[in-house]
Amino acid sequence: MNPTLADKIAHAPKAELHIHIEGSLEPELIFELARRNDVKLAYDSIDALRAAYAFTDLQSFLDIYYAGASVLLHEQDFYDMTLAYVERALADHVTHAEIFFDPQTHTERGVPIETVVAGIERALAEGERRGLTSKLILCFLRHLPEEDALATYESALPLFDKYPHRLIGVGLDSSERGHPPSKFERVFAKARERGLKLVAHAGEEGPPSYVYEALDLLKVDRVDHGVRSIEDAALVARLADSRIALTVCPLSNLKLCVFDDMTKHTLKDLLDQGVAVMINSDDPAYFGGYVNANYFAIVDALKLSEDEAYTLLRNSLEASFVTDEERAAMIARLNTYWKQ
Ligand code: ADE
Ligand code: ZN
Repeated sequence: MNPTLADKIAHAPKAELHIHIEGSLEPELIFELARRNDVKLAYDSIDALRAAYAFTDLQSFLDIYYAGASVLLHEQDFYDMTLAYVERALADHVTHAEIFFDPQTHTERGVPIETVVAGIERALAEGERRGLTSKLILCFLRHLPEEDALATYESALPLFDKYPHRLIGVGLDSSERGHPPSKFERVFAKARERGLKLVAHAGEEGPPSYVYEALDLLKVDRVDHGVRSIEDAALVARLADSRIALTVCPLSNLKLCVFDDMTKHTLKDLLDQGVAVMINSDDPAYFGGYVNANYFAIVDALKLSEDEAYTLLRNSLEASFVTDEERAAMIARLNTYWKQ
């Protein structure tokens, strides 16, 4: 792609709204933590682990992703993982990040949810000192029963009280097919009553009906991925009218075979029809790049213009869960930068 545009995007202030902190765990850190915590891995070396990152669909990725997370045991482990992401994000000029974590992946191994959040929070507080503002979103694993999500939600209530500035929402992730949003209506209703922000992965591998369910039954504020919405014209019009954003993750979609080639990605069609899409990295340690690499890949493949790149960046700020005042300041900063 045009190197001037790449440079302009790279240095632009931006928000990242779809990043699973466990998906930022690089193979080097997985091995270091395995050694530190005496956890046995199924791979002999960093190279052997990386070689296993040849995914055919979402589930083939999730199996390896959950195995990678098994090295996280202590507060310091969650701190180290999160601080590594903070540094990568700052290097990509991310000024605001909204970060997912999967407590059930850890509590089922006996790691208390308080340990998980304390480690992540300590690194995010350090991130704030270095120039990255952030929010944290607790995700429920949809392959597990709703009763487990409800128990996780109840166990997290003291943490929502303790970290109100940080822990501001709930989300839904893991294996999409066969686990529609409707399965989690009750737990999302509770979170909504409490005034939390709501997001859900939908329309990544699953059909447009899952996006409708996320909107109508869970009443989400944003949809994660949502790229299959393009198959339903009425849904696209509704997303455009409501300005409910889709947090799109191009390299993830490519690696998980949602599209067999980046030139087939539907982001430009969504953008052309007025849907608030923006660019994110999802699980950057597994999919070959952090947020800037995702921008480069999609702008290059779809031959997006400078104006379209600006719209994506601006949408990331518009869709952030920040106050109107903070949003206005972030947009002003982008505008000043973009005009120079
Ligand atoms: N957990 C981590 N990454 C995910 C993705 N892309 N889809 C669903 N669940 C996930
Ligand atoms: Zn995701």
